Amino acid sequence: MKIAFFDSGVGGLTIFNKCVNQINAEYLYLADNKNTPYGIKNKELVKKLVVNNIEKVIKFNPDIIVIACNTATSVAINELRNKFKEKCIIGTEPAVKVAADENLDKRILVCATTLTTKEEKLNNLIKKLNIENITDFLPLDELVIFAENLEFNSLNLKTYLSDRFNCVDIINYSHVVLGCTHFPLFHNNIKDVLPESVKIIDSSDGVIKNIKNKIDDLNLKQNSNNNVTLLLTKEDEEFANKFKYITKLGDFNVIIV
Ligand code: DGL
Repeated sequence: MKIAFFDSGVGGLTIFNKCVNQINAEYLYLADNKNTPYGIKNKELVKKLVVNNIEKVIKFNPDIIVIACNTATSVAINELRNKFKEKCIIGTEPAVKVAADENLDKRILVCATTLTTKEEKLNNLIKKLNIENITDFLPLDELVIFAENLEFNSLNLKTYLSDRFNCVDIINYSHVVLGCTHFPLFHNNIKDVLPESVKIIDSSDGVIKNIKNKIDDLNLKQNSNNNVTLLLTKEDEEFANKFKYITKLGDFNVIIV
């Protein structure tokens, strides 16, 4: 079976890594490295980029396509499902339901890109769960840039995180929801600026569960081992090195699409 992942850059690897460890398949990982970051661009442009990229990935004939990007999911999932009806497309949404189910009497803080926080998709989900009165947003767009630069330990990063979390009265929150797939790369850095009582959650386990369910529904068979191809929208040796660093994979192909 063939599973394709898509993100603007390295963020989707936070789901991809878990998937590769649990499911043997032929994998494609498409990073739109030519146009990253998405979260600060306008909705129509991002929608167009996402649709173009998924068109490219479909040429490789994957059984399952995982939109491993909250921003792309929030602006384009409906259009993708309408346009590519015959394809199995799994999206990634901030894990606000998990937070709502676990939450007792405190607030929920959703960290995402600016575009995701403005989109109807997330706001409708929050309304549906009836948690709009206890949910706040904290956009952390610069974290995407820190991740793309593999900057996981710098003083700039530390200062950025403490400044951003100082904007909220963090003691009032039970959950911080990481609603951008780049953000779990900073799980420990974020933990360092939060009180111990605040739980950090992300969407990766939920997406993996959806992938497993689809594999069963479609009756797909696991391969005997993994085979990985990195698809890039712009030639960039450094991106391949980043991919290697985050996935710890020794062997993969690179194709420019
Ligand atoms: N990783 C993405 C997300 O989950 C997008 C980050 C970006 O390109 O701004 O939202």
